[in-house]
Amino acid sequence: MKSFEGKVAVITGGAGGLGRAFADRAQALGMSLVLSDIDAGALEKTRSALAASGARVAVLAGDISKAEHATALAGLAQREFGGVHCLFNNAGVGCGGFVWENTLEDWDWVMGVNVMGVVHGLRAFTPLMLEAAKRDPGYEGHIVNVASVAGLLTPPLLGIYNVSKHAVVALTETLHHDLALVSPQVKASVLCPGFTPSGIANSHRNRPASAQSDAAPTASMLKAQAMVAKAVESGKLTAQDVANATFDAIRDERFWIFTHPAFKPLLDARLDDMRALSNPRGGAGMRET
Ligand SMILES: NC(=O)c1ccc[n+]([C@@H]2O[C@H](COP(=O)([O-])OP(=O)(O)OC[C@H]3O[C@@H](n4cnc5c(N)ncnc54)[C@H](O)[C@@H]3O)[C@@H](O)[C@H]2O)c1
Repeated sequence: MKSFEGKVAVITGGAGGLGRAFADRAQALGMSLVLSDIDAGALEKTRSALAASGARVAVLAGDISKAEHATALAGLAQREFGGVHCLFNNAGVGCGGFVWENTLEDWDWVMGVNVMGVVHGLRAFTPLMLEAAKRDPGYEGHIVNVASVAGLLTPPLLGIYNVSKHAVVALTETLHHDLALVSPQVKASVLCPGFTPSGIANSHRNRPASAQSDAAPTASMLKAQAMVAKAVESGKLTAQDVANATFDAIRDERFWIFTHPAFKPLLDARLDDMRALSNPRGGAGMRET
């Protein structure tokens, strides 16, 4: 996508963290904003701050793990701004612990937001983008699915999160191939950031009551929580750095967005192990940023 001015960005999980940074960058580039988030209070604060700084912004509070929310969000983008050009399937949550100790509620919650949230975003918005491309040969659309380095590596104690982000990588690669079959005007990228200071280590703050489990956290869950909190806090790039790199990649139509090069040797090691059919080298991925 060569120009952003006057176009429309839709961002799920837009109230804070990386989502807010995408919104700030999109606004700076002259885009209108449509933001969704499950945290209605935080979303309203973000809306009012963005509007006060001159943004054209519409918001919808809701849970992206529900298809109806994505459908309503697409309706809002159409009504307010006539469609969408950049879609950021960004909302995500994390939950750690040994995979055999995580509860079914943990699995449903994380897979519901991180995987089905992206699916719902794609199902609601991609047809609108493809229709816009058919109507207008000058239309350009771009979809960014937010995965993680955890979508390429398999750090211990983060099984559900790893599985969900590997799914986002596979989904987005397939989306890239599918789009290439139908239109040169709509592109996709997958964002795989490393640790970046944000609210992700405190995801439970927005865990709906219906997704709660009665079980007390196990020692492995508490250990994972402490490790993630420390790693996220010590991340050297800001959310704004990640957003800037993401918009550069959209402009250059690059599929892979790797913001944290320190993880590259770990990815190389994993690929080398697979090629050599060696057993995975253990434990890598949690401490490096
Ligand atoms: N921060 C990092 O270190 C890091 C690294 C790699 C990937 N990511 C990914 O970046 C994305 C953004 O996370 P972040 O780090 O900004 O965390 P964050 O917690 O600061 O922001 C996530 C936002 O998503 C919202 N959200 C949570 N559940 C939702 C739901 N069901 N429906 C709609 N909105 C919901 C939250 O309220 C929050 O505003 C996530 O997909 C995360 O997995 C983050």
